[in-house]
Amino acid sequence: MEMENNTETLLGEELQGSATILKDERPGTKKLYLESYGCQMNFSDSEIVASILNKEGFETTNNVEEANVVLLNTCAIRDNAEQRVRNRLKHLNAEKKKNPNLTIGVLGCMAERLKSQLLEEEKLVDLVAGPDAYRSLPQLIGEIEDGRKAVNVLLSREETYADISPVRLDSNGVSAFISIMRGCDNMCSFCVVPFTRGRERSRDPKSIVSEAKQLLEKGYKEVTLLGQNVDSYRWNITKKGEVINPDEEAVSFARLMELVAQVSPELRIRFSTSHPKDLTEDVARVMAKYENICNCIHLPVQSGNSEVLKKMNRGYTREWYLDRMNMIRRIVPDVGMSTDIITGFCGETEAQHQETLSLMEEVKFDFAYMFKYSERPKTLAERKFEDNIPEETKIKRLNEVIAIQMQHSLESNKKDIGKIFKVLIEGTSKKSEEQLFGRNSQNKVIVFPKEQYKKKEYVLVKVEDCTAATLKGKAVGYA
Ligand code: SAH
Ligand code: SF4
Ligand code: F3S
Repeated sequence: MEMENNTETLLGEELQGSATILKDERPGTKKLYLESYGCQMNFSDSEIVASILNKEGFETTNNVEEANVVLLNTCAIRDNAEQRVRNRLKHLNAEKKKNPNLTIGVLGCMAERLKSQLLEEEKLVDLVAGPDAYRSLPQLIGEIEDGRKAVNVLLSREETYADISPVRLDSNGVSAFISIMRGCDNMCSFCVVPFTRGRERSRDPKSIVSEAKQLLEKGYKEVTLLGQNVDSYRWNITKKGEVINPDEEAVSFARLMELVAQVSPELRIRFSTSHPKDLTEDVARVMAKYENICNCIHLPVQSGNSEVLKKMNRGYTREWYLDRMNMIRRIVPDVGMSTDIITGFCGETEAQHQETLSLMEEVKFDFAYMFKYSERPKTLAERKFEDNIPEETKIKRLNEVIAIQMQHSLESNKKDIGKIFKVLIEGTSKKSEEQLFGRNSQNKVIVFPKEQYKKKEYVLVKVEDCTAATLKGKAVGYA
């Protein structure tokens, strides 16, 4: 996914939705159109879905009109994410009138949350499959061909799709996602993810390392290790820290990063998302030790007020968060920092909101995803607290947060003027054929004149100018 213009991402991940084209490895007669919404984990899952259906002879298309099966991999994180999918489904149902044999299915978090509702009550779809049910997709599609409606929303304690080699969709051939774990055990009171993705489970490190090796062999230069809370990744260790099988290595997240970093110095490593409550010094030390582990961390804070954080069930205070940030900056001095913020959570006072603003001033994030609170059914917050902050207040606070962040992003970029960064080239700039773009270790996008440079190369770029979203510069040689 090319995301050259970061202002787009400031608005939140559910605004993305993109059609994906599946490489035609085993041509078949059936055509699949797959569209993904939500977080990186969903985009990564779509690559697993593509792989599973590719083996069954499905060829993908980016033209809905020629598709036999349309699958939307959906997000349930905020209400507007779901509304967007509903509108899309209504549109697709109009399409179906022209092509009655078209199968429409929903996958992902909204499928899991609503189960058979979209099928039976709203009559918008023929197929519903939750995040742990993708292996059964061929069978579910078969049931529809037999004239039945198909649902599988069983969650699993074990499924990690470790053995499935994802088909890289929408790929720039430079960077790829690797899912290292699934689910979440945290129960933040605002969050629907534990209900839609089930229990946390980690994937076998051997399969992660071998996926990284395969990607490198195919010419990829960057991998992002994905999980809802990567710091709680653990293999062969219990939650209490006891080793399960003494004959096998116990692997923490820090150790896993090290194993992936050792695949090749040419392969860059990123990771997302870290959780302030579980982040350890080892992770920062491994970041500092390996040049190819990028110096950037996405550490969602959500709120700058400890009481709000308690109600959110985040498991840390404002002071703890600031302490973690200081720890990282001490160990990795040039680290890039980004965060997630929610405004207008249940009962949030103006003074508490001001503390979010003051925390932002204290940390000065390079980048942030900012949201207004959206109540989600079944969550702890929905059951325990009243969603009592008026919509205008939520929006006003959100706008204040966005304004400060824009200022901080611009200040942070201005500080980079004159500096030289190692940049991995991801492709040609959207705005000009004559410009290339890539990212530095801190995850900032840099645009520069093409000259003789090519995609996948590491170059040194001197920053000459910037906006709040992008650095602009000139290459000064190979890195
Ligand atoms: N696992 C990650 C976050 C996943 S969801 C973590 O714990 O940090 C991504 C972001 O969506 C969250 O960090 C939060 O800022 C936002 N979010 C989650 N639920 C929300 C809700 N009900 N309303 C508004 N924003 C929400
Ligand atoms: Fe949701 Fe919290 Fe889990 Fe993140 S850590 S996915 S916010 S429950
Ligand atoms: Fe959305 Fe599910 Fe990701 S709710 S943010 S797609 S885990």
